[in-house]
Amino acid sequence: MKILVVGGGGREHAIIKKLKENKAVETIFALPGNGGIARDAVCVNVGATDLDGITAFAVENNIDYAVVAPDDPLVLGCVDRLEEKGIPCFGPRANAAIIEGSKAFSKDLMKKYGIPTAQYEIFTDLDAALAYLKTAPIPTVIKADGLALGKGVIIAQTREEAEQAVCEMMQNKKFGKSGETVVIEEFLTGPEVSVLSFTDGETVVPMVSSMDHKRAMDGDKGLNTGGMGTVAPNPYYTKEIAETCMQTIFLPTIRAMKAEGRTFKGCLYFGLMLTPDGPKVIEYNCRFGDPETQVVLPLLQSDLLTVMQAVTNGTLRDTPVTFADAHACCVIMASSGYPLSYEKGYEITIPEALNDAVYVAGAKLADGRLLTSGGRVLGVTAVEGSLKEAVASAYAKVEQITFGNAFYRRDIGARALAAAEE
Ligand code: AMP
Ligand code: GLY
Repeated sequence: MKILVVGGGGREHAIIKKLKENKAVETIFALPGNGGIARDAVCVNVGATDLDGITAFAVENNIDYAVVAPDDPLVLGCVDRLEEKGIPCFGPRANAAIIEGSKAFSKDLMKKYGIPTAQYEIFTDLDAALAYLKTAPIPTVIKADGLALGKGVIIAQTREEAEQAVCEMMQNKKFGKSGETVVIEEFLTGPEVSVLSFTDGETVVPMVSSMDHKRAMDGDKGLNTGGMGTVAPNPYYTKEIAETCMQTIFLPTIRAMKAEGRTFKGCLYFGLMLTPDGPKVIEYNCRFGDPETQVVLPLLQSDLLTVMQAVTNGTLRDTPVTFADAHACCVIMASSGYPLSYEKGYEITIPEALNDAVYVAGAKLADGRLLTSGGRVLGVTAVEGSLKEAVASAYAKVEQITFGNAFYRRDIGARALAAAEE
C-alpha cells in the first residue's frame, strides 16, 4: 500500500513510525515531512496547506490511503478534496473540523447539547466585549475564535489585561481573521487531561489518557508553547472519571456532531479540566495532539492502519483497540528561545540506538547532516513499566543527544509522579 501523511512535525513522525509496523505498507510519503522523518518516509516538498499540491500528488502517485494530521489542512477541507478524488482518508471533513476551527461553534454546540464546559459569551463587536469586561469575573479567559497556532488563549489576571487582550485581537487583528470573533469565558481550575479518541461518527474509542506540559519553563512558568513534554497515562484520570467523561462528554459530542449533519470521523481530541464540579471541556481539537501522540501511539498495541481504516469505513465498533499496561514519557528538546525567537542550523547528534525513541519535529537534512530548523526540535520518548522509570529513561536518552542551543524542561512528569503518590 502507498500511504500519504500530510504534515511535518513530531506528531507526524510518531504516526509514520506506527503505520510502518504494518507489513502491507510499502511506501509512506510525508508532505512535507522533515529531515528526521526522511529516515522513515519519502518526504515531498509540498506544504501541508497546499491542498492543490497535495491532491495532485495523491492522484499522480496512486495513493491508497491518506492521513491528514495537522489542524490547518483539516479545517481548510483537505479530506474533502482527497475524497472527491476517491482517496480514502483518516481525518474529519471541513464541516466537522470546525469543532476546532471555531471556538464559537464548539461553545455553542456544547451549550445546545448540555456538554459541560466553562460559561461564556461570544463577541463580534469590540465595544460590546469591552462593556462586558467591566463586570466580568476576574480572572477571565479570552479566546480568539479561529486557529491561532495555539497562541489564541489569554488568561487575564486583571481587568486591564483582559481589555488589552480583546483590543489586540479585535482591533489590532493580532491573529488576523481568527480574532475577529472572541469568546470570553469563565476561568476554571483543576488538573488538565488530554484524551485523544478514535471515532467513526458512531462509536468513540478513547485512547490512553495523557498530560501535556504547555509552559516553556520548569514549574509551569514562562510562555505557553505547543507542548514541552507529555506523560501517559494521566494519573488524575481514574476509571471513574473516564466513565463520567464517556457519558457526559464523549458520546454526547459524537452524537451532537452527527445530529448537526457534521459527522466527525478521525481523531477527536478532548482537552479536559477536572474541576470541583466534574470534568469539563476546555477545548476540542480535530486531530492528534502534539506531543500527546508521541506518548499515546507508542502504547498502542493494535495495528494503527487497521484502526484508522475502521474509522474511515465506519466499522470501529467491531475493531479491537488495545493499549499496553505501561507508562510513557516524552521530553521535548527545543531550541533555546522557543516559543519566541531562536537560533537554528545546529547539527543534531543522536546515537543510532536511540533512533526508535526519537520523533523529529524541527530538523532538516543538509549534506547528510541533521540540522535544527524549528523551535521544537525532537521528542524523546521512553516506555517503561512505571511512570517513574519512564521519566528517568526519557531523560537518560535526552542526555545522550546533543545539538547547539538545546533546551528542555527538567520536570516533565514531576506533577504526575506527585499525583500518583498522593
Ligand atoms: P487551549 O489553547 O484552548 O488549549 O488553551 C490553552 C490553555 O489555557 C489550556 O491548556 C488551559 O490551561 C488554559 N485554559 C483555557 N481555557 C481555560 C479556562 N476556561 N479556564 C482556565 N484555564 C483555561
Ligand atoms: N499539545 C496540545 C495540542 O496538540 O493542541
